[in-house]
Amino acid sequence: MDRDEIIRLLGTTDADEVRALLKAADEERRRSVGDEVHLRGIIEFSNHCGRNCLYCGLRRGNETLRRYRIPDEEILELAARVRDAGIATVVLQAGEDPAHTTEYICGLVSRIKAATGLTITLSIGERPYEDYRAFQAAGAERYLLKHETASPELYRRLHPDSDQNNRIQCLHWLKGLGYETGAGNMVGLPGQTLATLADDILLMRELDIDMIGIGPFIPHPDTPLKGAAAGDLELVLRVIAITRLVTGNTNIPATTALAALDPAIRLKALASGANVVMPDFTPARYKQHYEIYPGRSGVSSDIKAVLAGLEKDLSGINRRIGKGPGGRRSRPED
Ligand code: 5AD
Ligand code: SF4
Repeated sequence: MDRDEIIRLLGTTDADEVRALLKAADEERRRSVGDEVHLRGIIEFSNHCGRNCLYCGLRRGNETLRRYRIPDEEILELAARVRDAGIATVVLQAGEDPAHTTEYICGLVSRIKAATGLTITLSIGERPYEDYRAFQAAGAERYLLKHETASPELYRRLHPDSDQNNRIQCLHWLKGLGYETGAGNMVGLPGQTLATLADDILLMRELDIDMIGIGPFIPHPDTPLKGAAAGDLELVLRVIAITRLVTGNTNIPATTALAALDPAIRLKALASGANVVMPDFTPARYKQHYEIYPGRSGVSSDIKAVLAGLEKDLSGINRRIGKGPGGRRSRPED
């Protein structure tokens, strides 16, 4: 698929064509990554952030947000809970918290690794090369750093205090170090066009990104973008489907943002190219303050119930929960 064809398909509203697109993506998903849906337990361990991204509720300019850091011992307990739920991968996510020194993160990673043996994914933003190397030496194997948007102008407008070149540089560093590397974008950002979305997909293919998080933009009332419209869910599904067709064997989650707008859409995403779900292990008393976008606290904290519901939903579409770490490079044929 070339750029023009991607743009055309992103814009199609012809019901037959949309159906054929989502079905083709589902077939490609089955062919390239199989029927297992991989789970990642996510722990949002700090909502402090030094950045001021225009769209995000954690931006430092949002003074109405109550800030928290989960104490180490509690993070370790939560990681053990992920392992006890039979999930092999934990995602440690936070804002760009100035308190997260290299030593602190390395200590946390190595303690979790030693105590649980989980595959550890970090999602804590842009750091110097040496940090990424140190985190890896401490036991981190995967890293999520969404590129957010491929458009240089849009990136500049949305990120008053960061530079797109540095973000792309970080992705190159992570790939070069051998991390399984995640990127991704938001769909429906004000000022975004279908051509921007096509460039997002092509950029991720070019960087050989392993994990791709695609979610709708959701306006947050305490941010400068509060008046903007939310992303269109049907368009998100088409972006997921085309991304699957273009990138083959990548891991693509049905994102929490998608489920926040419409819980039923998660299954639709899993039937249109997605193959990963990320259950949230952050305790409710913290999670209610991890308000990147509104609607997140509505997601249930009862992990047993969440997993049972998921298992039932999945059996309805002939899919099953994957065992093992479910990395891009841990497929049986590798
Ligand atoms: N709507 C949807 N997604 C958002 N993110 C941040 N703010 C929003 C929003 N308003 C996503 C970004 C970021 C991650 C922390 O959450 O993609 O990488
Ligand atoms: Fe901070 Fe990430 Fe939110 Fe930007 S998107 S304000 S870096 S938490």
